[in-house]
Amino acid sequence: MESNLVGKTAVITGGAGILGHVIAQELVKKGVNVAICDLDEEKLNTVCQELQGNKGNISSFVCDVLDVEILKKTATKIMENYGRIDFLINGAGGNSPSATTEQEYYDSSSKENSFFTLTPENLRKNMDLNFFGTVFPSQIFTPYMVESQQGAIINFSSMNAYTPLTKIPTYSAGKAAVANFTQWFANYLAHTGIRVNAIAPGFFDTIQTKKLWYNEQNQMLPRAKKILERTPMQRFGVPQELVGTVLFLLDYEQSRFITGITLPVDGGFLSYSGI
Ligand SMILES: NC(=O)c1ccc[n+]([C@@H]2O[C@H](COP(=O)([O-])OP(=O)(O)OC[C@H]3O[C@@H](n4cnc5c(N)ncnc54)[C@H](O)[C@@H]3O)[C@@H](O)[C@H]2O)c1
Repeated sequence: MESNLVGKTAVITGGAGILGHVIAQELVKKGVNVAICDLDEEKLNTVCQELQGNKGNISSFVCDVLDVEILKKTATKIMENYGRIDFLINGAGGNSPSATTEQEYYDSSSKENSFFTLTPENLRKNMDLNFFGTVFPSQIFTPYMVESQQGAIINFSSMNAYTPLTKIPTYSAGKAAVANFTQWFANYLAHTGIRVNAIAPGFFDTIQTKKLWYNEQNQMLPRAKKILERTPMQRFGVPQELVGTVLFLLDYEQSRFITGITLPVDGGFLSYSGI
């Protein structure tokens, strides 16, 4: 059976990243034309080359989600290429070491990277990426989507949105703000046919998180052990396990009465009190 998604156009910000890449791969296989937008030109080129020759077309745009003028130019080029935009996946985001405390709890003997020494610039930069990095593309791309009347937006929140993880104050607050904005924007667009939802991934085993969960001898670090103790399924997720949720939320036929939700994909992490 032919998918309802064939011939539609999806914009994926942060599309050269680990999760964005996997999502782009699945969408082009299904016949969706995908425009990946990312700050990292090298990664963009690699992903774009790898995904050529699928049923859907793939194109790439070097684009900073915090630069409204670049976003406008990118939207114009995508419209020139495909003539329509149906889906927006706001994947650009992430934590930064410069917005991370060294310790989980305040320790007066530790002078490096306590909450009190993180600079306002670095905190603001991280908050901007995670919150306005979702808001600005939503402002720029959504007006093109209104015509299709069956468009869908997917934002990326996190487990941090419900209860903040230690060490990462602005990432946690930014992802909580994304979940809140998802509800706000869903309501705002409710009469247009465009649905706005978010995914809250749990803890995924990726090249990037390997550094966070394992030491150089590939032994699991205490923080990773704590996560698994709090995850009823007792394992990390793999990026492919997000794809079904993305397809479900994009497909009008499957989820047309769903808007404003943040859907956890977390192996049960959110449902477990630890006891
Ligand atoms: N991987 C996880 O376990 C996990 C868990 C919860 C939430 N998330 C969220 O999911 C999203 C994707 O995560 P990921 O694991 O693929 O991360 P990733 O770092 O692999 O991908 C993020 C991409 O965003 C791009 N980017 C960064 N700043 C940008 C900017 N200003 N403009 C445009 N692009 C920019 C990066 O170049 C990168 O390619 C992020 O929002 C992340 O916070 C990830």
